[in-house]
Amino acid sequence: MSNKMWGGRFTERPDEIMEEINVSIDVDRHLYAQDIAASKAHAAMLAKQGIITAVDAKNIAKGLDTILSEIGQDKFSFKRALEDIHMNVESRLSDLIGSAAGRLHTARSRNDQVATDFRLFVRDIIDDTDAALAAFQRALVDRAIEHADTVMPGFTHLQTAQPVTFGHHLMAYVEMAARDRGRFQDARKRLNESPLGAAALAGTSFPIDRVATAQALGFERPMANSLDAVSDRDFVLETLAAASICAVHLSRFAEEIVIWTSPLVGLIRLSDKFTTGSSIMPQKRNPDAAELVRAKTGRVIGALTGLLIVMKGLPLAYQKDMQEDKQGAMEAFAALSLAIRAMTGMVGDLVPDQERMKAAAGEGYATATDLADWLVRTLKMPFRDAHHVTGRIVGVAFKAGVALHELPLQQMQAIEPRITSAALAVLSVESSVKSRVSYGGTAPKNVRAQAKAWLKRLEKERKLG
Ligand code: ARG
Repeated sequence: MSNKMWGGRFTERPDEIMEEINVSIDVDRHLYAQDIAASKAHAAMLAKQGIITAVDAKNIAKGLDTILSEIGQDKFSFKRALEDIHMNVESRLSDLIGSAAGRLHTARSRNDQVATDFRLFVRDIIDDTDAALAAFQRALVDRAIEHADTVMPGFTHLQTAQPVTFGHHLMAYVEMAARDRGRFQDARKRLNESPLGAAALAGTSFPIDRVATAQALGFERPMANSLDAVSDRDFVLETLAAASICAVHLSRFAEEIVIWTSPLVGLIRLSDKFTTGSSIMPQKRNPDAAELVRAKTGRVIGALTGLLIVMKGLPLAYQKDMQEDKQGAMEAFAALSLAIRAMTGMVGDLVPDQERMKAAAGEGYATATDLADWLVRTLKMPFRDAHHVTGRIVGVAFKAGVALHELPLQQMQAIEPRITSAALAVLSVESSVKSRVSYGGTAPKNVRAQAKAWLKRLEKERKLG
């Protein structure tokens, strides 16, 4: 039997391999809700424009609703021979309502249909991702308020640099997530135009109303150029690019969790809820969730790279290559969603070892900059000279095997006679973080103010949302 959707010119069945390479139903079945919504909007518009009768439109809508609930309840049998979601739905529609089903495809093509469906799908993904990122931010902000005063080592080059607060560190990820959300919103703005009615590539001779279908589907406007409408996949690429950057952020945080939970470091602990044991080493507590978040980044970036390569050099307009846009993207979005939720869970779960954090914050002469700043402030030394003097003092302390605040004052004065005991006061990790009051700095009062401002903002968003 030749294909009933286009079989007029065909007399033979496709080769098995042809069918296997062509079929996309396993992937695009996930677009069923969007496909049905777009078909309903199209049918209603066709009737309103007098292109099909109101009775046909009503039967089409009813049939589509039946299909929606059949698929929703897992009672629909998807047929591989029907290739994709569009033809599976249309074929079932013709079983349900007879020949009127054949009128639904007037003035459209699978090319504008799939572009419309996938835009709607990606738009939903963006909205879900935004909500997940807001919940992630909320978890971070809550812990940041709790730990606005908790001192930990801050690192550069993964070397102990200066003391910071744990709350400040967590708030850094709130800012990153905010930029991620902004990127998803930017992608959403450009995505939100309707390809429906571009038909195969050239538009149609029927008097359709593209503004009406665009509105019905929540798009801002119809896309202006029919060739562009069916061949554009920027919306997937942009969303994957936003997803990639977001995944990279999560991977950095995940990596920190892996480092911090290592017994060698011991800055935080994760509970049984977010760790696994080893089948051979009874003492082990592995941060698998964090490791997997770190790894999922590969899948997300891989999907972006893969689709960029699919699209590169494709001539206008629709090419079947573009059918390959969905699988990687869907897997990437699912991976990102899981990664965000796992990080949110770990943020709520982790327990910092505050004693260890404080001790580690003072290791490695982390308050040396505070001494240099004291020399600048009190003795009016140029910073470069103060840096040099402090370096010599650190050298002496290191040789003596003591921390900066443990070095006898006379030994400091041997290097710089004007140093007084007042300088020793700035060498504690607490006074170090307290002094960092510059805008965006790590001082507990800054962190508390920023976290509270974010809390308000997120609360307001939630109420509006
Ligand atoms: N399954 C196809 C896709 O995902 C739908 C569009 C097919 N169009 C066509 N002219 N064969 O791209």
